[in-house]
Amino acid sequence: MKDLLEEARSLLGAARRVAFFTGAGISAESGVPTFRGEDGLWRSWRAEDLATPQAFRRDPRLVWEWYVWRRSVVSACRPNEGHLALARFALARPGRTAVITQNVDGLHREAAVRATGGADPASAYPLELHGSLFRDRCSGCGARTEALDSVDVSSLSTLPRCGRCGALLRPDVVWFGETLEAVVLARAMAAARAAEVCVVVGTSTLVYPAAYVPCATLEAGGAVVEVNPEETPLSDEAAVVLRGRAASLLPGLLA
Ligand code: OAD
Repeated sequence: MKDLLEEARSLLGAARRVAFFTGAGISAESGVPTFRGEDGLWRSWRAEDLATPQAFRRDPRLVWEWYVWRRSVVSACRPNEGHLALARFALARPGRTAVITQNVDGLHREAAVRATGGADPASAYPLELHGSLFRDRCSGCGARTEALDSVDVSSLSTLPRCGRCGALLRPDVVWFGETLEAVVLARAMAAARAAEVCVVVGTSTLVYPAAYVPCATLEAGGAVVEVNPEETPLSDEAAVVLRGRAASLLPGLLA
């Protein structure tokens, strides 16, 4: 492992531009459940019932109930040493580092704020491909707002509605069958193409189009470093695979 870590560090040291592509695994040690792991969300719930536009049309109360629960779980979690190491790395290389995440938990953002100690954290803010648990969006007019502090999920009539058009609000996350926000995806793909190294952390790389991000680095001639305790479809393409947990490995890799 020491040699592999050194190999990955020297790739990063030689790279002018670096992209990070992260998934649920980077937040696992913060206590956020993954989707497909042993205690993963999709082992206990069916995505079709909770994370599709059809599910929201069918039973918005049930969908809100699940997201209120997820918000409460994630609100109790703090960034771990992996998020913090990544944020420090990005802050030290403004304009040359892109943080691209599939996560909706806000922990990269919080890590950026913590790591700056008061200076501007923006250069370590992530591109959030799948949206954010902590924003709401109108299901009618699309207006975005900060997430409400509390949502009364006791009945359909108590669910929150848009102040402008009156349609139901929904969490501002991307559901199965929905398209990603084009501008965010385009920025992510451009950053991945421009990066000599893409560090892929804690993702099964099974969900597209997000999983094209590291492919863009590879196609442009760059290298992938994977940090994951388990094999993924991307492992064979990676220049270096670090088998282990993000919070243990990233501080050493990115110091
Ligand atoms: P998954 O649950 O599919 O994969 C989590 C990955 O993290 C697995 O490859 C694990 O081996 C790895 N992992 C677990 N613990 C780790 C740790 N401590 N350190 C590093 N890696 C660890 O989650 P994602 O790949 O993020 O989409 O899932 C992608 C998308 O599928 C999500 O954004 C979500 C989901 O359905 C939407 O909701 C649209």
